[in-house]
Amino acid sequence: MPDNKLRKMLRTHTCGELRIDQVNQEVILSGWVQSLRNLGGLSFIDLRDRYGITQIAFNMEVNSSLCDKARKCGREFVIQVKGKVSERSSKNANRPTGDIEIIAQELNILNESKVPPFTIEDESDGGEDIRMKYRYLDIRRNPVKDKIMFRHQVALHTRKYLSSLGFLEIETPYLIKSTPEGARDFIVPSRMNPGQWYALPQSPQTFKQILMVGGMDKYFQIVRCFRDEDLRADRQPEFTQIDCEMAFVDREDILQTFEGMMKYLCKEIINVELPDFPRMSYDEAMETYGNDKPDLRIDMKFQYLEGLRGKGFQVIDNAEYIRGFVVKGIESAFTNKEINELTDWVKRPQIGAKGLMYIKFTNEGVKSSISKFYSEEELLSIGNSCSAEKGDTILILTGSKNQVLKQLSELRLEVARRNNLIPEGIFKPLWVLDFPLHEWNEDEKRFFAMHHPFTSPLAEDLHKMSSADNKIIESIRAAAYDLVLNGTELGGGSIRIHDKELQSRNFELLGFTKEEAESQFGFILGAFEYGAPPHGGIAFGLDRVCAVMQGSTTIRDYIAFPKNNMGRDVMIDAPSGIDSKQLKELNL
Ligand code: AMO
Repeated sequence: MPDNKLRKMLRTHTCGELRIDQVNQEVILSGWVQSLRNLGGLSFIDLRDRYGITQIAFNMEVNSSLCDKARKCGREFVIQVKGKVSERSSKNANRPTGDIEIIAQELNILNESKVPPFTIEDESDGGEDIRMKYRYLDIRRNPVKDKIMFRHQVALHTRKYLSSLGFLEIETPYLIKSTPEGARDFIVPSRMNPGQWYALPQSPQTFKQILMVGGMDKYFQIVRCFRDEDLRADRQPEFTQIDCEMAFVDREDILQTFEGMMKYLCKEIINVELPDFPRMSYDEAMETYGNDKPDLRIDMKFQYLEGLRGKGFQVIDNAEYIRGFVVKGIESAFTNKEINELTDWVKRPQIGAKGLMYIKFTNEGVKSSISKFYSEEELLSIGNSCSAEKGDTILILTGSKNQVLKQLSELRLEVARRNNLIPEGIFKPLWVLDFPLHEWNEDEKRFFAMHHPFTSPLAEDLHKMSSADNKIIESIRAAAYDLVLNGTELGGGSIRIHDKELQSRNFELLGFTKEEAESQFGFILGAFEYGAPPHGGIAFGLDRVCAVMQGSTTIRDYIAFPKNNMGRDVMIDAPSGIDSKQLKELNL
């Protein structure tokens, strides 16, 4: 390993390094001027680099020209200071270097700076747009810098963990043929092959499977992926996966290997011991939380409320599906105002419910929007059946099954957010298993792969692959799994099909003709004819892993140069037009 000592040219120490036991040492520091204060015959510069801030003192009486020079420095000037470490008379307990200061003997202005468009402070006065445009200044701020450093730790420990288990990091190409992953591809014209296009990978899925055929039985890659999809707080058009694949394994091997990885990352980096991950089937997650990535920090499981039927209330009696959940821990149940606000919220077009029913159990008895149709005893018995107590409220939605599950799932999260029911600093992991293999698309009247077309059916459902009945096809479960932490899907993967016949049948079920399958996936089908081992894998979103570990809701801060909501990089102004000469060269 190289000697970590800096070459003693522009600095001997960093701005975060010096302490009281280095008093009287001659040092050279370099960095940016955080602030300048003039107090009578003294001037102080707070000098910053990525390691911290050190105070530099200039004394007019001792060296007036040096002090004059310091007073000419503006914010963000780059300077080099030579001086002696000295104990401070008024110490700053909030700063690791706060016991000392440097008594300046020499000052070198290495570069000047314009006045920055926002303050380089933890709480900046700059809005998001301006900070994105001047991202290099934003990165100098602690909250952004710290997250980028945190990401380095996550990547480093990931490499350590996987390498220790014998995984090899292998790069796969960025200029590829489109991968069947569900989102739109970003495409790149080929100058040398007029009229033909590369696609940027949505993931290295097919390459990692081919690496298994190539005998590289434990692969990983921290790799950029590109998806042209609508952006959200947890989605970027280019993002990074911890992409992994293993041969000669079954699902259990993969779950244990990667549960181990998340436990290791949390222990090493944030000193959190994750419990063993509970497991839940997709069906159970949907029935209980209306969602395939439930946030288990929140209680409020969905309640079976069929007992409300048959009392003459048409809305309930005619409903395809009735579910609700109990809200606990709210002081003496919801107020009418709160209920009205929630009702307006579920009626917004984004949620689309027709209305919200409630049963409140208050000190003054049961209060309910449906009390006209039910006696107090009946409502109390419903309350009992879902363990509601005094102070609790049951919120109820009706409609088609899909609508109710989706709307109630959103409502559950909203109620938790509004009432601070999501405990901080707690980590609740979960494996969601047994996803459906296929999803029926009513518009296109065909099945789509829920994960991707290489996912294997569960062994128990293999016999259903030869069926011609759509209902049976729809019921085939996949050997697929998602790792969920605090309501965010951090990773997903599956055991793959390694048998050419089964793969061809799957393409058939997905509506591909033999020719289409051959032209799009011939390369992988071909590889499968030369001894593909049983294999499976998983990919994690590195950006999401970082954000969730630090309790952040947005992945943007963990990406040094992220895109905005419109998919633009406002710093470099991309995407942008290109000149006609370039277009011509590309035959466009
Ligand atoms: P999947 O599509 O589930 O699986 O992606 C794996 C993980 O990548 C992250 N992710 C994203 N992160 C940020 N922005 C995005 N736009 C984005 N899209 C996905 C998520 C997700 O869980 N090839 C398969 C994996 C496999 O089967 O091995 C795949 O890509 O955290």
